[in-house]
Amino acid sequence: MEIRAVGPDELDAVDRLVRVAFGTFLGLPDPTQAFGDADVVRTRARHSPEDTLVALEGDALVGAVQVVRWGSASVLGPLAVAPERWDSGVGRALIGAALARVDASGATLTGLFTFPSSPKHVMLYHRFGFAPQHLVAVMARAVAPSDRAPTTLAGVGAGPSELAALAAVSGALYPGLDLSREVAAVLGQGIGDVVVLDDGRGFALCHLGAGEAASGVCYVKFAAVAPGPSASGDFAALLSDVEALAHRAGLATIEAGVDTGRTAAYAALSGWGWRTQFLGVRMSRPDLVGWSAPSAYVLDDLR
Ligand SMILES: CC(C)(COP(=O)(O)OP(=O)(O)OC[C@H]1O[C@@H](n2cnc3c(N)ncnc32)[C@H](O)[C@@H]1OP(=O)(O)O)[C@@H](O)C(=O)NCCC(=O)NCCS
Repeated sequence: MEIRAVGPDELDAVDRLVRVAFGTFLGLPDPTQAFGDADVVRTRARHSPEDTLVALEGDALVGAVQVVRWGSASVLGPLAVAPERWDSGVGRALIGAALARVDASGATLTGLFTFPSSPKHVMLYHRFGFAPQHLVAVMARAVAPSDRAPTTLAGVGAGPSELAALAAVSGALYPGLDLSREVAAVLGQGIGDVVVLDDGRGFALCHLGAGEAASGVCYVKFAAVAPGPSASGDFAALLSDVEALAHRAGLATIEAGVDTGRTAAYAALSGWGWRTQFLGVRMSRPDLVGWSAPSAYVLDDLR
């Protein structure tokens, strides 16, 4: 088996393999329809193809994995193996290759989202040093009309000072956590926007009916407010601004993930009428709470 970075002509095949693997695992009638029209694999690979690895047996594509870099932290996934090759070591080989890249980059924490009810998944990752943390709720609510005018980066762009301000917020929650690459990927591909609160108090990176968001959906890929006495109010303001952005974009639904260990943020969403669509579990290598402390007003699901 050969494992190497994806080539530009292979992205469609990788996209199909990932959908078929997840669709098969989830028991969908047509596995190719997994994730609907959300474009997870290509959105990530377009920005950093070196972080998409493929496994080949001869000419046959049998698996793939992606790594996303958030400064000092990395996110592993999606990982997928062609169903006819399950349980023959392809997944383990891909995780090993991905973690070699992560470790070479000096990441201090690698996180992932997986299926808590699957003994296979939890043990597979556990053997590589990932420990199960809290459940992660992927939540959604209908977009309400809003006349707020959020400040966003799509118009002005994200220069060094804007990126530094975002990194200061995330870095206050976990040392070195930095979403700059993710912001560049979203703004560069024109698939979303970044809502920013005044005075560097918080930001929300949103895919707007494109990229990793399905049509009609504003997917909050990552949102955070700076810790401190005003965090609760800032979080409410940030979510109101996200809703206004979604409304202006003509989207019907906002979706976001929250680690249920972030008890304050989870309770806030629940109180504002968000409902859980499905649950995953966050696993962390090493065994760290990271940016999921009970008081952390952060949204992400590590998918
Ligand atoms: C999850 C997935 C990537 C794993 O790939 P794979 O190639 O089947 O995995 P591997 O064969 O390398 O390893 C699976 C390991 O789990 C073990 N395993 C299987 N069932 C198990 C169980 N009930 N309890 C514990 N371990 C189990 C296997 O024995 C194997 O370990 P071994 O080789 O030491 O025996 C693959 O099943 C897949 O594509 N699933 C659909 C997409 C998906 O779920 N992706 C991951 C989302 S986080």
